[in-house]
Amino acid sequence: MRAPIIAGNWKMNNTPQQAVALIEELKPLLADAPCTVVVCPTFVCLGAAAQALCGSNIHLGAQNMHFKANGAYTGEVSADMLKALGVEYVILGHSERRQYFAETDETVNLKTKMALEHGLIPIVCVGESLQQREQGITAQLVRGQTKAALDGLTADEAQQVVIAYEPIWAIGTGRTATAQDANEVIGIIRGAVAELLGEDTAAALRIQYGGSMNPKNASELMAMPEIDGGLIGGASLKAGDFSAVVHF
Ligand code: 13P
Repeated sequence: MRAPIIAGNWKMNNTPQQAVALIEELKPLLADAPCTVVVCPTFVCLGAAAQALCGSNIHLGAQNMHFKANGAYTGEVSADMLKALGVEYVILGHSERRQYFAETDETVNLKTKMALEHGLIPIVCVGESLQQREQGITAQLVRGQTKAALDGLTADEAQQVVIAYEPIWAIGTGRTATAQDANEVIGIIRGAVAELLGEDTAAALRIQYGGSMNPKNASELMAMPEIDGGLIGGASLKAGDFSAVVHF
């Protein structure tokens, strides 16, 4: 049985003060959360967020990290630095990073390995663009992204990874994949994990859906057998909406 996990990706929103205010609103609302809950503020908010979350049931995640341990990489942040702040999860390979910041399958794989080496749980994002969906290459694309991200991991390592299926055309657009479509693609992703690392690993690994998930559609999506959680953008920025999604 896979434990559901809902994560809020705050993207480039909230100052440290605003992050703390949002966390203070969320804490009482999520104290009885029926699933694992993670919030992922920007790097500059992580220290303040960690303090605000102390003693709560809400976990802390980052939105990215570098694949090297340390060194001359101006502007980058390492796994060690995240760990030292109390970060437990890290989103890797979000489509916005692939699209705007030259993230590749190869760097996502290096980052996934580095995160696991440092005891961080990677939330690895995969998903197709509208053009790729219309070309009929969704399955091929997500299988390739999944296998590339997990390449070289042992089964034990891979079981700790969370994958987020985020169709790019559904992100921030208000257009959600139907629960059936999301379930089908997530099944394809799980099949790719099984081919690479065996059925047991595929059965244990959690796969979220992300893309305009909100209080209205969360329960239908979460009812699907392959969907183990959500990666929430816009609806994670309002305490009431995020709480409603978490209590799907
Ligand atoms: P929205 O929920 O705003 O569509 O964003 C989804 C997302 O990109 C989460 O990582």
